[in-house]
Amino acid sequence: MVAAPGNPGMAQAGIETQPLDLTDLEAVCRLADQLRPDLVVVGPEAPLVAGVADHLRHLGHAVLGPSAAAARLEGSKAFAKGVMAAAGVPTAGFEMAASRSELWAAIDRFGGQVALKADGLAQGKGVYVAANAQEARSVGEGWLTRFGRLVVEERLGGPELSVQALVSGDDVVALPLARDYKRRFDGDRGPNTGGMGAMAPVVCSYPAETLVELAIRPVAQQMSRMGMPLCGVLYAGLMLTAEGPRVLEYNVRLGDPETQVLMPLLPADFPDWMAAAALGTLSGVGDLPLASGEAVGVVVVASTYPEGEAEPEAIELGAPLPPGLLFWGGVSGEPGRLLSGSGRVATAVGTGASRESARQAAYRLAASLRFPGAACRSDVGAS
Ligand code: AMP
Ligand code: GLY
Repeated sequence: MVAAPGNPGMAQAGIETQPLDLTDLEAVCRLADQLRPDLVVVGPEAPLVAGVADHLRHLGHAVLGPSAAAARLEGSKAFAKGVMAAAGVPTAGFEMAASRSELWAAIDRFGGQVALKADGLAQGKGVYVAANAQEARSVGEGWLTRFGRLVVEERLGGPELSVQALVSGDDVVALPLARDYKRRFDGDRGPNTGGMGAMAPVVCSYPAETLVELAIRPVAQQMSRMGMPLCGVLYAGLMLTAEGPRVLEYNVRLGDPETQVLMPLLPADFPDWMAAAALGTLSGVGDLPLASGEAVGVVVVASTYPEGEAEPEAIELGAPLPPGLLFWGGVSGEPGRLLSGSGRVATAVGTGASRESARQAAYRLAASLRFPGAACRSDVGAS
């Protein structure tokens, strides 16, 4: 396996890495031609939206990732809303607003209870859940200037859940349900982040199959009907409201940090399942055999995250490391001398027969990753 660009933490863990600018599509294709891998898995959304999967497929590579046309499900909230409407997927009511008067009218329509969303990609920072109409107007006017066009959505409430599946055309293989802790601070307070932790599998009042039939399969079928069949992972971010589940967003890639907690639950031959999705041979393969037990992942961040820059600090690792899986993220430096970045530095995943034992294992591992500005939530996996 080769990770490109990867990071020095991965290299320290023994994974081969290759420098790569993911926004440079020609460089991505050159590297794929040079390595001739059995499968290219595209991780982040921006290269997918830019068409990296189309380019690689054109060159004959097996790719897990949708075309640029299909990646609009993640790249444009307005496009996603249109697909949901056509597929009959329940979602929050919404209006598009491109002017101050449209913004105010939309906020009024939902009685001042709204979430504002930038239409395009915003690295998890394009959503503002407004406390009241006044806040929605003032933030919305700033965002109109910044983004040009907004989705003004009815504000919903309820527990959140991440439903993911491998999708190849109309074929769907569900992954375990997971929960992402998006807010920065304990008790789900503070600003939204790229994810402060995760747990899986999630048990909720709906069976996983019901949620897949509600949020994943109709969209897979609708995309095929529209002539842009999906290939890759479809991720639905759901809110379980009093009126039933509602989809808040789609991603066209594995969710982060949900996937880190899925890793210990997925079978060792999961890469073969990904390859089957890439090659269009997912039909009739059945369900994924999953490991029993629970997984909890705690994200260690710089204390200033998600606002402000932090000075790089030397990371010290406890020895021996307690059991678990450590996924490195925002680090620089070199193997053996890692430095923390300003964002999400690493995810410590613990497993156990119960949620509580998994949680304790995750926190033991997180605590053995030390730098002066290290911070994490203390309630991941607790509820
Ligand atoms: P999204 O990127 O659309 O998933 O939004 C990020 C987070 O904002 C979600 O996980 C929710 O916590 C919150 N959010 C998004 N849309 C709404 C909504 N309509 N009502 C309430 N909260 C929302
Ligand atoms: N956990 C949501 C995402 O990956 O964007």
